[in-house]
Amino acid sequence: MSDVVSGAEIDAQPAPKTQPKPHVDADGYAQMYAASVTDPDAFWGEHGQRIDWIKPFTKVKNTSFEPGNIDIRWFEDGTLNAAANCIDRHLATRGDQTAIIWEPDDPNTTESLHITYADLHRSVSKMANVLKGLGVEKGDRVVIYLPMIPEAAYAMLACARIGAIHSIVFAGFSPDALGARINGCDAKLLITADFAPRGGRQTPLKSNADTALAACKDSVQCLVVKRTGGEVTWTDRDHDCNALMEAASDDCPAEEMNAEDPLFILYTSGSTGQPKGVVHTTGGYMVYASMTHQYTFDYHEGDVFWCTADVGWVTGHSYIVYGPLANGATTIMFEGVPTYPDAGRFWEVCAKHKVNQFYTAPTAIRALMGAGNEWVEKHDLSDLRVLGSVGEPINPEAWNWYNEVVGKGNCPIVDTFWQTETGGHMLTPLPGATDLKPGAAQQPFFGVQPVVLEPTSGEIIDGNGVEGVLCMKDSWPGQMRTVWGDHERFEKTYFSDYKGYYFSGDGCRRDEDGDYWITGRVDDVINVSGHRMGTAEVESALVAHAKVAESAVVGYPHDVKGQGIYAYVTLMNGEEPSDALRKELETWVRSEIGPIAKPDLIQWAPGLPKTRSGKIMRRILRKIAEDDFGALGDTSTLADPSVVDDLIANRMNRA
Ligand code: WTA
Repeated sequence: MSDVVSGAEIDAQPAPKTQPKPHVDADGYAQMYAASVTDPDAFWGEHGQRIDWIKPFTKVKNTSFEPGNIDIRWFEDGTLNAAANCIDRHLATRGDQTAIIWEPDDPNTTESLHITYADLHRSVSKMANVLKGLGVEKGDRVVIYLPMIPEAAYAMLACARIGAIHSIVFAGFSPDALGARINGCDAKLLITADFAPRGGRQTPLKSNADTALAACKDSVQCLVVKRTGGEVTWTDRDHDCNALMEAASDDCPAEEMNAEDPLFILYTSGSTGQPKGVVHTTGGYMVYASMTHQYTFDYHEGDVFWCTADVGWVTGHSYIVYGPLANGATTIMFEGVPTYPDAGRFWEVCAKHKVNQFYTAPTAIRALMGAGNEWVEKHDLSDLRVLGSVGEPINPEAWNWYNEVVGKGNCPIVDTFWQTETGGHMLTPLPGATDLKPGAAQQPFFGVQPVVLEPTSGEIIDGNGVEGVLCMKDSWPGQMRTVWGDHERFEKTYFSDYKGYYFSGDGCRRDEDGDYWITGRVDDVINVSGHRMGTAEVESALVAHAKVAESAVVGYPHDVKGQGIYAYVTLMNGEEPSDALRKELETWVRSEIGPIAKPDLIQWAPGLPKTRSGKIMRRILRKIAEDDFGALGDTSTLADPSVVDDLIANRMNRA
């Protein structure tokens, strides 16, 4: 275990610019993995030292997946501060090093920014004092609804610094969705900006925030960052972030937090009901985010790391902010989109900042592959060492293009499988340690114990060359601890279908070599351009429209997005289907949830296939949406089998 790197050792490493030796090779991985699962207390006791503790922990793992007693604690008697781990502890050795490179939406009108660790310390401390000045205290919730600007990172770290719990809402979400989340966690403060530029367009964040806040308690205050300087209306609850930060002191001591104090809440979609607030705590999350960042991307001192996600998703939390900054990295925060001003933007940014590790989603890779190789080839990508993929299964064609055209065959691709709930990578190849297979997430990270279960019986399927549902046998430090305000829902969602295990919601295959392949969700969650969505959410948005009687939503294969949204809609008696109504429903869903939830296809359904007990048979709807209705299986249990013929005849997705 000579490759174990503690916080102190990270500081002491020289800054290699040539190809560094990977942190682990195949044998090193095997040894460390074995150690991590045979004696988790010893393994994590040692690796828990990679972050700085105020009061050292004496207990390591205390976790239970027992029905009725789901209880997950790591390092439970230790105290620390996450922001101090991301900033303060680096000041002595790398105060002048760039912590964050901010890359704007439009490179022709705006300069990129280099923010050093010392700058970051100053800005985060100032913002922390602003929050305090507005009455935010330890344990209070703060909702962040910002573009990808440095203030988003300042806001996260300022919350962490004073022990407030942040909950970021992706800036693409609608006012309704934002309001529901503010109320869901009973936030004291909303942090937003005037506008969010993206791909040359602007989302009116402040005006969205005003609409959202109309549905919230009057006491919720609003801190407004100036991004574009565009005109916004100002209300009594609004505070000017720029002015307050300028006036604020840059001295703000970091609050001593318990390892199990919540660090953040992040709402995510599930198969039923409204999105749930996934709660991550401080100690285990920080250890896990920083360790996965180091090993999965083979991060070395001096590397420039770029994760293209938005901080509104968990990927941005763990691999733009907490993981890289805990490791003292230079991390890129990108405000824009892959195709603006042109389809070479990603590669231009990689060349400009000499990016060493690049981490993006298959949907972006597919879109850029379609734009043509010339966009890649005109940029110097010779600093790239590792390429990453996340969010959905990557098809071999996209994998090969990524490998050959972007990586020039020299950069290992890490296909990282994980979830909002898992805090960090669960299954992933490690550069230098894994023989890669296009499309496979391959092997568990340290401490992760995947099992394949028979879907109906829940029995463990041993051996290789098998397929089933993916569960985890035991806890890992980055695991979510609860659903905000609803521990019962936590147990019901993740631990009740397969007792004694954490259920991921994904299916998987373990091949003849023991490598894992994710086969996709087995529940009613779909994955659209790497964004996770509950079909139930889209359905409830649709039925909230006055002209809609009923709706069923399923995913179908989409060339670029991975999955598209296919909605079957039954109209109220007397309503006539029309193209205008279809447009109206699309706009409606956009405004209820956000643009990412807009149905790609809407089929008018005079009736939906239901069992005699009234349950919608989604299996059939999925098949029709996939244009694969040859094998519909048994439809004899349907209340009215003729419904199916009509749906097939009028299907929208025809090859
Ligand atoms: C899917 C994103 C295949 C999976 C970090 C999971 C993947 C859901 C991969 C979580 C991958 C994520 N290969 N599928 N490498 N990564 N997924 O919570 O279905 O937004 O359950 O977290 O994305 O999405 P979430």
